[in-house]
Amino acid sequence: MIPESFVQELLARVDIVDVVERYVPLRKAGANYSACCPFHSEKTPSFTVSPSKQFYHCFGCGAHGSAISFMMQHAGIGFIEAVEDLASGVGLQVPHEERNRAERARKAPLTEVMARAMHFYRDQLKASPKAVDYLKNRGLTGEIAAKFALGYAPDGWQGLQQVFPDYDDPALVECGLVIVNEQGRRYDRFRDRVMFPILDQRGNVIGFGGRVIGEGEPKYLNSPETPLFEKGRELYGLTQARQAIRDTDTVIVVEGYMDVVALAQHGIGNAVATLGTACTPTHVHKLLRQASKVVFCFDGDSAGRKAAWRALEACLEQLSDDKSAGFLFLPPEHDPDSFVRAEGAETFKRLVAHPTTLTEFLLRELKAGVDLASAEGRARLVHEAKPHLTRLAAPILRVQLVKAVAEASALTQAEVETQCGLKPASRGRAAPAATKHRPPPSSVEYKLLQIVLHKPEWAARLPLELIDRERAEGQALSAIADAIDHGEMAAGGFGLLLEFFRNTPHEALIAGIAANMVEEVDLGALEGVFNDSVVRLRHTALTAEIEQLTARARQGLSPEERHRLAELLAKKRPAPTTTGSPI
Ligand code: UTP
Ligand code: MN
Repeated sequence: MIPESFVQELLARVDIVDVVERYVPLRKAGANYSACCPFHSEKTPSFTVSPSKQFYHCFGCGAHGSAISFMMQHAGIGFIEAVEDLASGVGLQVPHEERNRAERARKAPLTEVMARAMHFYRDQLKASPKAVDYLKNRGLTGEIAAKFALGYAPDGWQGLQQVFPDYDDPALVECGLVIVNEQGRRYDRFRDRVMFPILDQRGNVIGFGGRVIGEGEPKYLNSPETPLFEKGRELYGLTQARQAIRDTDTVIVVEGYMDVVALAQHGIGNAVATLGTACTPTHVHKLLRQASKVVFCFDGDSAGRKAAWRALEACLEQLSDDKSAGFLFLPPEHDPDSFVRAEGAETFKRLVAHPTTLTEFLLRELKAGVDLASAEGRARLVHEAKPHLTRLAAPILRVQLVKAVAEASALTQAEVETQCGLKPASRGRAAPAATKHRPPPSSVEYKLLQIVLHKPEWAARLPLELIDRERAEGQALSAIADAIDHGEMAAGGFGLLLEFFRNTPHEALIAGIAANMVEEVDLGALEGVFNDSVVRLRHTALTAEIEQLTARARQGLSPEERHRLAELLAKKRPAPTTTGSPI
């Protein structure tokens, strides 16, 4: 690991034009330089280098990046070597061994610490008849407990001291196993709980969930977010489920640790759980890469229905026509664990094979909210369906859905398409989503991210509380704002930003946007769109709050709430329409 600050300093010193010119003859073309691309063979130059952005991009093959990536790509060398090469060119010394080692010594032990803790908890389970009985009573065998490496965190404040003689090691706190109280006293986070290790895709332990034995609050205690553990990305049980997912080409998404383990106990090995958080587009994306069918199976209660709706929304932009999402609604008194125990694996498998489809679920929910007997209600159906139709990334499925909405609203397919701003199919041209590449997400967050990549310092002006962190682009936006806030990223070229996100979850998203970035933009117009988008964010939040208050108004509002509603209504202005984009 080379310190981020050094990479910044280096990129501020080298000029990408000099670097590229060492290998490729460049010609000035407006504000940029151009050349025939060194990464693919071509006769007309489509390779561009932008000195202002310190960034190169090839319109032909899509190669792009900073001076560092150019060296890596062109010379076929690794990151560290590229940094060393560039540093020696400008007379900088790479802060090598010491800091480098310190860095590594900081990261690597976290996974080691977690692994050691997992072994400790597992051994403790064998020594605790109480915990073993608890798991047996829940129908689990030793084999399944071993498969999921279930453990037991003993009662007592510093149980981990037994395997970590240096109990003051900051790594224990950093990976969330030990808590320091206000008096500076250290103690184990997990005490007297059954432990469920959470693994990443490589099988490293990155977190734990700990269940209280019997009754108690909180029922589950989870690892906090740490350098190893980011909840919106991880899924419990994915590593153990991988083979069964491949065999069935289906992944079942459930809510709880015990649901995953109990299904596995009954021979249904292809289940994973979101970790007490809503299902995110990142989750869905990850799952659809491994199977062509995702079936969400949430609890039968109203919280489960809400979770299913969130999952549906997370699916829309991730689906393609060769992938499907289904929903399984269990009877209200059941979750997957109790259901499979009561009804058996075969019944559960049959349900999974024939779930409610995404379109059925979407239509059912939309129709439930309107009165289809009235023209107003049918109009409202189309209105409510519109955002979902536009976000749905699977073009053929979208046509199906348009037809169903048209039928329910007594309109023609073309009328629905026009009203929803979709190109009518009758023109013989494919809808935008039918092009080979998936259309960019249409969220305000995505637009803002595009803009902020041009002007990172504007991130400081974002109303972060209104940004949807469930979206990958929302997360990237707040990461940039954080970095700017902490002075970790001086305003610099786009190349620097790319380096900043190297090896982070945001890398792919940002590289995707980068593919269209070299053209010079009109900063004035860009700022206009930025401001409009922020206004739109506020407007959406405002509208949501108004709708929520109005919906509850029938049951009566408190004087404060009435006051708030009046205030909100007074604030509400028509939403600006961001149409033309200078990007
Ligand atoms: P549930 O309350 O449905 O629990 O929470 P469960 O999975 O059925 O657990 P059992 O069967 O009673 O043991 C579903 C998931 O929500 C998260 C956990 O990930 C849990 O598996 N959760 C729940 C928490 O993180 N903390 C809690 O206190 C409760
Ligand atoms: Mn349960």
